Amino acid sequence: MCGIVAYVGNKNVAPLLFEGLKRLEYRGYDSAGLAIVSEEKIKIARATGRVSVLESKVAAAGGFESHIGIAHTRWATHGPPTEANAHPHTGKTKSGHTIAVVHNGIIENYVTLTKYLTERGHVFTSQTDTEVLAKLVAELYEGDLEKAVQSALREVTGAYAIAVMCDKEPHTLVCARKGSPLIIGIGEDSYVVASDPSAVVAHTTQVITLDDYQVARLCAGPKDRKSPGGGPWAVEFRTTTIDNVRVTREVEELELDLQQIELGKYPHFMLKEIMEQPESLRNCLRGRIDQRECRVVLGGLTPLVRDLMRAKRFILTGQGTAFHAGRIGEYLLEDLAKIPARCEYASEFRYRNPIIEEGSIIIGVSQSGETADTLAAMREAKERGAMALGVVNAVGSTISRETDAGVYLHVGPEIGVASTKAFVGQVAVLTLLALYIGKRRFLSDETVRTYLNDLEKLPEHVAKVLEQSDHIRACVERHVHRDNWLFLGRGYNYPVALEGALKLKEISYIHAEGMPAAEMKHGPIALIDEGMPVVFIATQGSQYDKVISNIEEVRARGGKIIAVATEGDTRIEKYADSIFRVPNVPEAMQPLVSVIPLQLVAYHAAVLRGHDVDKPRNLAKSVTVE
Ligand code: M6R
Repeated sequence: MCGIVAYVGNKNVAPLLFEGLKRLEYRGYDSAGLAIVSEEKIKIARATGRVSVLESKVAAAGGFESHIGIAHTRWATHGPPTEANAHPHTGKTKSGHTIAVVHNGIIENYVTLTKYLTERGHVFTSQTDTEVLAKLVAELYEGDLEKAVQSALREVTGAYAIAVMCDKEPHTLVCARKGSPLIIGIGEDSYVVASDPSAVVAHTTQVITLDDYQVARLCAGPKDRKSPGGGPWAVEFRTTTIDNVRVTREVEELELDLQQIELGKYPHFMLKEIMEQPESLRNCLRGRIDQRECRVVLGGLTPLVRDLMRAKRFILTGQGTAFHAGRIGEYLLEDLAKIPARCEYASEFRYRNPIIEEGSIIIGVSQSGETADTLAAMREAKERGAMALGVVNAVGSTISRETDAGVYLHVGPEIGVASTKAFVGQVAVLTLLALYIGKRRFLSDETVRTYLNDLEKLPEHVAKVLEQSDHIRACVERHVHRDNWLFLGRGYNYPVALEGALKLKEISYIHAEGMPAAEMKHGPIALIDEGMPVVFIATQGSQYDKVISNIEEVRARGGKIIAVATEGDTRIEKYADSIFRVPNVPEAMQPLVSVIPLQLVAYHAAVLRGHDVDKPRNLAKSVTVE
């Protein structure tokens, strides 16, 4: 989704803004822009396409020199990705000064506000909802930017993270948020504001976050204003609500290592994150398995353990890959903890007037912790009396802050738009959660121990699957020209089939469908023709024979069988054209290994088709609008 970077401080701002924008590229965008204040005038550059295009444009204009600036990558919502619609957007104050705004989110009442502002003489030049914000701040500006922003935000409904500046106040940045993420890095002589920590960590690890409806005024300028080029700088910030009530925000230490967000030896973040899964799993499981006591340790849940034991129903929710992890969670909680569970798309759950019975617990599954639909569903369920748990990766994200308790994934930042290590982390955490509850209800120590043993070996198991990357690539090469694929599985492996299909379509743009293997004969079998690639997750377990029957049905119609099968299973060799092996683990843990080859299938297909794996078309890493 849109990305914001803003800076005020003692360094030349343009290179810092470009560096920040590049760090945010993974979020997905289609145009970019920046504004600075130079000689008491706002200078703006905007471009469609990549940040590098914007950079060349600024260089061609002789470069931008300033110590204050705001920049943005836009993922189009209102109006196409044109230069006119790219941010920053501006407004003229009554005194003739210029306000510039970058914004992430959606202003819902922009039509009414546009009418109001047009009547007051403001002329709109874009089709965005954001421009209304710039004009509104300008309309309300009376010599104090912070006040004007507060007043404007009191008139606005919707979601926003914004950074605003004015040429009349060249040492002041004002930012605010409601719903959309924003963090503020506190440097020695500077402030850097960004949509996520990846654009901050190169400058500082000291950060503050804002709650909804809060505003920060960040000032940085030379102590001696008469000699702006040299001498010490003075910095000062304050935080308020949009009603101008002072609030205190704690400065926190950002736990992020620059290395984690750099490519290193890998050509793409997606491949890096797939290949690093043994390590990310180790981090996810660290300290959570107590073999001696034969138990799972989930510190974040300790205060709520009684409520968990009394739970009558779990509702798992999420979108995309997180939803698929939630579907596996549904199987795990019913199977291991014996508590009714259902997983629903957050976007559907929220609007269907759900009945929340007493003892319901909603579990929000999300890598970013900022997905608007998931957040809205969690709020809805909480309002109706459910207790809320988060299974989230991004520490300090909105979902993690709004839940009653939760379990972090601890798999490190995920940059690749296609979620991989977060999925495996989500499923691992949900497995731990099901065991945590199951052990306290009726699971025997012996059963728990079997799972814990296999969970401990999981990083090695995954590493072994990853060794087949070249073999998987060779297989994909034979089928990559085909435009339609099917992914089929049963039981625990049905959501894995959904995930395999999603991965393939989102980065290779091949049409793929995932479904329960048995569902195929109820219609989709009509699609199967000579040579159609059909991926079966055919690991050994309670439904293995049934999956083999489904494989036969596809083979009889000319489909090419690509099977994910258990090590040592020789029977499958008679049926499959290609086989990817996974270690033999308990059925409830199979998704953790069977998804790995499917991630590699998607990755290799996208590379072989020549696509930009880390920047798939039309996609955003974190979808912060409904
Ligand atoms: O950040 P979240 O886990 O809440 O994101 C949910 C989905 O937007 C996300 O999983 C999306 O489907 C990915 N592109 C999948 O690879």
